[in-house]
Formats: sequence, structure tokens, C-alpha cells
Amino acid sequence: MIARTRMDYAVSGELFIRRFLLALIVLIFPMLSLAQDGSNTAQHEVTWSGDVAAIFQEKCQDCHRPNSIAPMSLLTYDEVKNFAPVIKYRVENRVMPPWHVNPNVGIQNFTNDRGLTEEERQTIIAWADQGAPEGDASRAPAPREFNDALIWRLEEQMGGTPDLVVESEAYDLAPVTQDKWFRPSSPTGLTEAKWVKAIEIRPKTPESRTVVHHSLAFLVQQEDGTAGLPDDVDIPFGPSLFMEWAVGKAGQIFRPDTGKLMLPGSQIQWEIHLHASGTRVPETQVELAVWFHDEPPEHRTILSMFDAQGPNSLDIPPGEIAVTQGTFVLPAPARLENFQPHMHMRGKAMSMEAIYPNGNREVLSFVDNFQWNWQINYVFDENVAPLVPKGTMIVTTAWHDNTEDNPYNPDPN
Ligand code: HEC
Repeated sequence: MIARTRMDYAVSGELFIRRFLLALIVLIFPMLSLAQDGSNTAQHEVTWSGDVAAIFQEKCQDCHRPNSIAPMSLLTYDEVKNFAPVIKYRVENRVMPPWHVNPNVGIQNFTNDRGLTEEERQTIIAWADQGAPEGDASRAPAPREFNDALIWRLEEQMGGTPDLVVESEAYDLAPVTQDKWFRPSSPTGLTEAKWVKAIEIRPKTPESRTVVHHSLAFLVQQEDGTAGLPDDVDIPFGPSLFMEWAVGKAGQIFRPDTGKLMLPGSQIQWEIHLHASGTRVPETQVELAVWFHDEPPEHRTILSMFDAQGPNSLDIPPGEIAVTQGTFVLPAPARLENFQPHMHMRGKAMSMEAIYPNGNREVLSFVDNFQWNWQINYVFDENVAPLVPKGTMIVTTAWHDNTEDNPYNPDPN
């Protein structure tokens, strides 16, 4: 149970084949525009003030600033200049910013994309190669302003305060310690069934924000798994992932006429990944806000985990790269909303492929540069999230690198 992926899909009995064909056209389109051209960056001197600062503001500073999760601040030229070689290395290898999906294979439009465009990537590399010059400081963009106030960010769009707030227990995190995965559980307090329209998670205090790397909330509840679904659909349910929080991602508003079902007596089971910051945080805590639909929506959103391995357990021989594969046949027409590979230290890559009932197959997503300390959820933009018919086989393939070339491998033997 190590290699698997999490995927949201909205199930409905009423998807028409016509919509399925339209989705296929949309899916194929992004694959036609493969490599972009970043060569224009070599023509002029690339400087921090003129070119690079704006990219860092947009793609790095949510994390690389005081009171956030990254180890160093990258706000000003003075802070950045000495890191130029290591920045180049991380950017060139597509490790930073943390966005590890292959830019040329499968779906490319995401709602939470924090990757660099090829042009931005080439600009940063060219700048580092040219000695990381500052350039004319008067041309630098105004510093970005950050709003760290404790507000619910979805409140404005949702037109009011949340209907329900659930908080985790507090954890006393030592200044220096190994990473912790804290798993408390909190009752939701619901006394009747509710359909969820939007969810947001946040660290509860500014101090918590500096140590909460990411946080998952699972919804644990008793049900037969069929509420709101067509009669012939039977999907295995365990505790299902309700929402997750990571820096730069506040929450999610479900698509129109779509929602998650919460039942009376349900619990939130947290999984909070903590990374010590050098300062003790005695009350590390996260909290979750929920907005409800007034009426039950037409479609139900389900988040499932699919094993990327066969019925036998994962077998990774010493010194080798192992490939494993799992399959799942969708019991109803569905829209695939996201792809979130999950592996541990030897994880190298994972792909998600669809084999349609007519025999056609296509790679939907391919995370070829997996980094085990970044469990990223790649959420498809609604215009490209594929609609797939009943009977589509989802094939997930995982690659584990157990050779000594894998820098994260504690023991290739
Ligand atoms: C989502 C948060 C996030 C974003 C966005 C992000 N980083 Fe990072 N960065 C981190 C964290 C956390 C670490 C330390 C853990 C790790 O290396 O994975 C890190 C590590 C690094 C390191 C290695 C530092 C060292 O001492 O070895 C470099 C260089 C870096 N980031 C550069 C960048 C650049 C450049 C960008 C933007 C183009 C960026 N990062 C965007 C969170 C982020």
C-alpha cells in the first residue's frame, strides 16, 4: 500500500457520449503545442531588476519569505545573489518551484499551477549563467505585499462566513526534531446530512504557519457508499480525503451542481505534516471551514485512492528501478479532477493512463520528476478535466529507483 494516487471524480448518471467526444478534443489539443521557445532570453543581459525579480515574486515568494515554510527568504537582491548557483541547479532540474509534472505529456492546464513557463525557466538559468547581475535597481518591480491576516480567503466569493468550522487538537512542536506526522481526530458535530459546496483549511496561528508543511483532512463516516449515486454504482469507500492544505493553496469551491456529502456523526481525521523551524511552537494547530449547499447538488464528488501496483505488494529489488502497475475500471461515467501521486523515498515517477471502452488509450498525466517530500496534487482546469465513460480503465504506473544514483535512497541493498 505504498504506491498509489488520489483522484477526485464527480460521478453522474447523465453524461452523454457527445460530451465525452468534446472532452477528447480538448485533451488532445494541448499536446500539439509541445516545446516553447526560450531562446530570446540570450539576446540581452538578464538582470534581477529587469527580468528575474518579477518571476520570483510570482513563483517563489509565497514560500521563500519570513514566516513561511522555505529555509531562506528570496525577496531582495541581497538575499538572492549568493544562492544563484543553487537556484540554477534546482530550477534547471525542475525541482523548484515544487511542480514535478512532465510539461510535455498529458493534461497541461491546472487550477493550482505554480510551475515556471519554459521562458521563465530559461530566464533564470541565463541570469545565473551571466553571474546573477542586479541591473538597474530603479527598474525593479515594487516589493510584493503579503496579507498574513487570519481571514478565510473564500469568504468573499462564498458571500459570507463559513457554516461550519472544525479545528484540530494542538501539538507542541520542539524547536529541533525530525519531521512529524500528527494525526488527531475531531468530531464535526453535524446532526443532519449536509452537501459541501466549498472547503478551506488554514494553519490556525502565524506561528503554526511556519511549521505546517502541509495538512490533509480525511472525512470518516458510516455509509453504504451509494448515497447520491446511480443505483448500479458500487464504489469502495474508506475514509475519504476531504481537503488538503499546502502553502499557496487555501481551499476549493466545488464545481456548480457538485458537492461532497457529510453525514451526522462524522469525524475529521487530520494528517498534519510538521517541519521544525528552530523555534518551539507549543500550539501548532490547523482548522477547516465548510460552506454548505442549500439544496442537494446534481453530482457527488468522491476522492479515491488507486493502487499503482498489482494485487501483490510492492516489490523493489536491490539496486534496480522497479515498475509496478495497478488498474481500476470506472463503474460509472465520471470526470477526473486531479492526479496526486503518492510514494516514499525511492519514488521516481508515476503516470495515469486511460484505456477507453473502444480500446483507445491515452496518458492523462505523468509526474516524471517525483520528489518524495513534496506530495503535490495536480488539479485539472475545468476546461480540460477529462470526462470518461463507464468502463474506462484507469492504469496507474509507478517507478521506484532503488539504485545508488537516487540521492534520497537510504540503502540500495
Ligand atoms: C510551495 C513552496 C515553495 C515554492 C513556491 C518555492 N520553494 Fe524553493 N523551497 C521550498 C522548501 C520548503 C524548500 C526546502 C525543502 C526542499 O528542498 O524541498 C525549498 C528549497 C529551495 C532551494 C534549496 C535551498 C538549499 O539551501 O539547498 C532553492 C535553491 C529554492 N528552493 C529555490 C526556489 C526558487 C528559485 C523558487 C521559485 C522559482 C522556489 N524555490 C519556489 C519551498 C518552495
